[in-house]
Amino acid sequence: MAKYLSSSEKQTQQIARQLAKMVRQAHHKRKVFALTGELGAGKTIFVQGFAKGLGIKDKIISPTFILIRQHKIPDTTQTLYHIDLYRLEDTKDFRHMGLKEILSDPNNIVLIEWAEKAKELLPKNTVKINISKGDDQNRVIAIS
Ligand SMILES: Nc1ncnc2c1ncn2[C@@H]1O[C@H](COP(=O)(O)OP(=O)(O)O)[C@@H](O)[C@H]1O
Ligand SMILES: [Mg+2]
Repeated sequence: MAKYLSSSEKQTQQIARQLAKMVRQAHHKRKVFALTGELGAGKTIFVQGFAKGLGIKDKIISPTFILIRQHKIPDTTQTLYHIDLYRLEDTKDFRHMGLKEILSDPNNIVLIEWAEKAKELLPKNTVKINISKGDDQNRVIAIS
């Protein structure tokens, strides 16, 4: 378990960016990242930094009604999936979303906000990232 303190949006993005750079290395086998933390904790901000670290230039936004967005990772055959389960009402929807298939494709790097809603589908080696809010802009980012 690694714990990071962040006191700004930028710092959270920087932490995420460093992690993404490690993941970019071919030998990094853990490619599913489960993000948890209350609304406004900084999960989407984290995904933004992570995407930058992979060289993705697209704007990363909260998926709101579209639960899944995909972004091609430049200079690779890989795809980043940004999934946000906040509005998911029924886990039966996982089938329609093809979530299992997305998670099992080794060509995908998958970041899931509100990942606790998909607990039963997450692979064993999922990287867990919890962001907790402190005072003002302070956040604790725990990665395990
Ligand atoms: N240290 C920090 N890390 C990340 N976001 C922060 C931080 N401090 C303040 N913020 C603000 O908190 C909000 C986080 O929003 P967002 O990433 O959409 O949260 P979530 O996706 O967890 O609901 C943003 O408005 C961001 O500017
Ligand atoms: Mg979000």
